[in-house]
Amino acid sequence: MAELILKDVKKSFGDVNVIRGVDLTVEDGDFCVFVGPSGCGKSTLLRMISGLEPITDGTIEIDGKVVNHIPAADRGLAMVFQSYALYPHMSVRQNLSFGLENVHTPRAEIAAKIDEVSRMLQIDELLERRPKDLSGGQRQRVAIGRAVVREPSVFLFDEPLSNLDAELRVDMRTEIASLHRRLGNTMIYVTHDQVEAMTMADKIAVLRAGIVEQFGAPLEIYNNPANIFVAGFIGSPKMNFLDGEIVKTDTASFTFKSDADETFDLDARDFDVRQGQKVTLGFRPNHTKVANGADADFSVSVRSTEQLGGESFLYSNTRGGTAVTVHISGQTDVTNGAEVGLAIERSEVHVFSSETKLSQKAGLD
Ligand SMILES: Nc1ncnc2c1ncn2[C@@H]1O[C@H](COP(=O)(O)OP(=O)(O)O)[C@@H](O)[C@H]1O
Ligand SMILES: [Mg+2]
Repeated sequence: MAELILKDVKKSFGDVNVIRGVDLTVEDGDFCVFVGPSGCGKSTLLRMISGLEPITDGTIEIDGKVVNHIPAADRGLAMVFQSYALYPHMSVRQNLSFGLENVHTPRAEIAAKIDEVSRMLQIDELLERRPKDLSGGQRQRVAIGRAVVREPSVFLFDEPLSNLDAELRVDMRTEIASLHRRLGNTMIYVTHDQVEAMTMADKIAVLRAGIVEQFGAPLEIYNNPANIFVAGFIGSPKMNFLDGEIVKTDTASFTFKSDADETFDLDARDFDVRQGQKVTLGFRPNHTKVANGADADFSVSVRSTEQLGGESFLYSNTRGGTAVTVHISGQTDVTNGAEVGLAIERSEVHVFSSETKLSQKAGLD
């Protein structure tokens, strides 16, 4: 059992405020991903939870106990780093046993644990090798194994897959997720890769510049991004945005007009907006399709196309110069330089205030 609660946690380096007040509850057994752009404070926050970095303000609780002043070694956590941090002069077996020997675990118990964990992580054939004689993926498995044998209450991962090639990253993603299902521990996983976040997390905390912009289940965040930043960060390729103004409101609908005079009617029940309000319309590439004549909402010129066989992408610009990406499932005959009409799926449109950047979805407070 390990629930983790952060209350108004802050960190400054000198007068630079790197973490600016984070409140977060990670429930026991949850796989929680901290995702955000490079430099937003993910590693700093994880290191504060681990005890490697003292906190400037706020409290960190593990299982109802404030751990602010408890040293890293006594918090019952284990951390896995991007850089593996294996001891180069030790064999895999010694790397795995080292932490247990330090706390005087009986030898037979160490051997049994290494046996079990190395088989689970498929490194049982590699136990007598040195880290330099392993591939990147094997090294990362050893690093994970070293955390697992310690039986921590919480696992902390800091971008553990960033040094691996794309294919291996996908495999390891699945393996870490199944490790979580098997062990059932609370895990906190830091990444800048929103695909990793979407595929692995029970809950995602989207961070930017030292604050949590949104916390929730992956699809909750994807379907209802709280603001423009989250909308643009979660989802690949990223959401399209069109700046404009609400020019007319009615009981049932309102009219959006873009800065380049593209005009749409949207359902008023879905949004809290007022006439004259400056807004940004958001719509995902997969909710945008090529359309002709009266079916088109606006026209674009296609800058480039990508045909992947099973799916295609159009990269285009509106008359006003706004970039719009279109995702087409299957293949397309649209060519570079073409002028085409686009239609947006109305029920999937997001509206954000240009001033506050917040979602104007009805029913939010
Ligand atoms: N020891 C430190 N001293 C000063 N600034 C630091 C220190 N560690 C991190 N920072 C700064 O804090 C910010 C967040 O860093 P970090 O937590 O590593 O971000 P992330 O892991 O999200 O890429 C960065 O601007 C970084 O330069
Ligand atoms: Mg980092």
